[in-house]
Amino acid sequence: MQLKKGQIVEFDIEKIAFGGNGLGKYEGRVVFVAGTMPGDRVRAAFTKIKDSFSEADLVEVVKKSPDRIEPKCKFFERCGGCQFQFMPYEMQLQIKKQQVIDAFERIGHLENPPVGEIIGCDNQYYYRNKMEFSFGYDEKMEFALGMHLPGRRYDILDLTECHLESEFSSEIVNTVREFMKNTGWPPFKYSVGEGFLRALYIREGKRTNEVMINLVTSDDLPKDFEEKIMEFGEMIKKLAGKNADGKEIKVTTLYHSKIICKRGVRSQIKETLLFGKRTLTEKLILKNGDELSFEILPQAFFQVNTFQAEILYSQVVDFALRKTNNVIFDLFCGTGTIGLFLAKHAEQVFGIELNLDAIRTARENAQLNNIFNIDFMVGDVGKLLHQMKDRPSLIVIDPPRMGLTKEMIGKMADFDAQTIIYVSCNPATCARDYALLTEYGYKMQEIIPVDMFPNSAHIECVCLLER
Ligand SMILES: C[S@@+](CC[C@H](N)C(=O)[O-])C[C@H]1O[C@@H](n2cnc3c(N)ncnc32)[C@H](O)[C@@H]1O
Repeated sequence: MQLKKGQIVEFDIEKIAFGGNGLGKYEGRVVFVAGTMPGDRVRAAFTKIKDSFSEADLVEVVKKSPDRIEPKCKFFERCGGCQFQFMPYEMQLQIKKQQVIDAFERIGHLENPPVGEIIGCDNQYYYRNKMEFSFGYDEKMEFALGMHLPGRRYDILDLTECHLESEFSSEIVNTVREFMKNTGWPPFKYSVGEGFLRALYIREGKRTNEVMINLVTSDDLPKDFEEKIMEFGEMIKKLAGKNADGKEIKVTTLYHSKIICKRGVRSQIKETLLFGKRTLTEKLILKNGDELSFEILPQAFFQVNTFQAEILYSQVVDFALRKTNNVIFDLFCGTGTIGLFLAKHAEQVFGIELNLDAIRTARENAQLNNIFNIDFMVGDVGKLLHQMKDRPSLIVIDPPRMGLTKEMIGKMADFDAQTIIYVSCNPATCARDYALLTEYGYKMQEIIPVDMFPNSAHIECVCLLER
């Protein structure tokens, strides 16, 4: 029978596909449905029909999987922030582990990939140290501050609670929303490129109890901006909450960032510190007891799950220490976290990173922690590798989701490092890059999946490759 868009059909969900959608089959056709899990029987309306696969929107769960649990958050079904709150955590972990195995088998052409036990996260809620909330309008065109609705880039879900960062961060969101509503300043409308209020970023030092708030706006300031922003600062200073251990937590930094857009020019961000410290301090303590402090500037990348980052980096250090290393490259080094932890086990470490804020912070972090055998360079890994004279025995790479380019892989292989540790937040691109690395003689020794993002479809892994 010819299927049509909008047609509603009923079928069983068999598994979770890469990316987090449920996968079922209707008349032999593979159909992806968001918000479903294995064991569900669903009615769903086709939104995309192709020979290779189709997509459908969930209309109704006709019969619930016996594994379903009650989601913690009242916004779960509408918000795109979490995908798996209805699934027991152990099940999430096994699905993620299987996805890593599948990626390396299918894309990496590895038979029996050496995937070890997945390392779960002790806290399934309130684990994030950074959240980005957007200003905008909800479906009723009312002022809103929250998350973009999935699949609808410009509608905002007005979030009055979120279990990802902390109770304090939800309190900040609610207070800021009330204040900003009363100013009369208009939220930015992406569809027409007009409006003032854009986003609210909240960063929280999980080990230091510091909080950094960054209010992001357009650069066309309202007339009463100076007066109202002072009032805003005073209000933020008075906010106080409790951390997970019941200790008092306050806002230590408030920034205002203007996004400056000019036709034909890449948009720029201009930050003004409204009060407090210039950076957010966070501490990481590895399993071997090594402890470092990090100063984080607003635009610098820092792993968003502090406690699980400690587990991730402990795994990197564990792999690195299996051999003696003189020179180590830390590529895509962000604020220098991995390189700084490895520095005491090497003669010299070089970190390369594109983001200037991150490199500035990395250099400060080296000084702050009295580490002097590390050099940080700002620029594109693909370009800067051409200038490197030293020959590393170990190269650590931690690229963004899209992974490496062929050029980067070729250049890296020229250094003839014995060991590569590949930290990846996307098993598909990691497996693709691995297939290329085998052409240069590298072989996978071990893959350890680490769950950095409970209740989401993401999975990180640490891979040990030897030549
Ligand atoms: C997944 S983060 C890893 C950061 C760091 N290793 C950590 O654990 O915090 C990836 C980093 O790669 C940087 N990056 C992206 N493309 C790059 C490129 N072509 N060259 C250098 N760095 C790049 C990003 O700015 C980001 O800081």
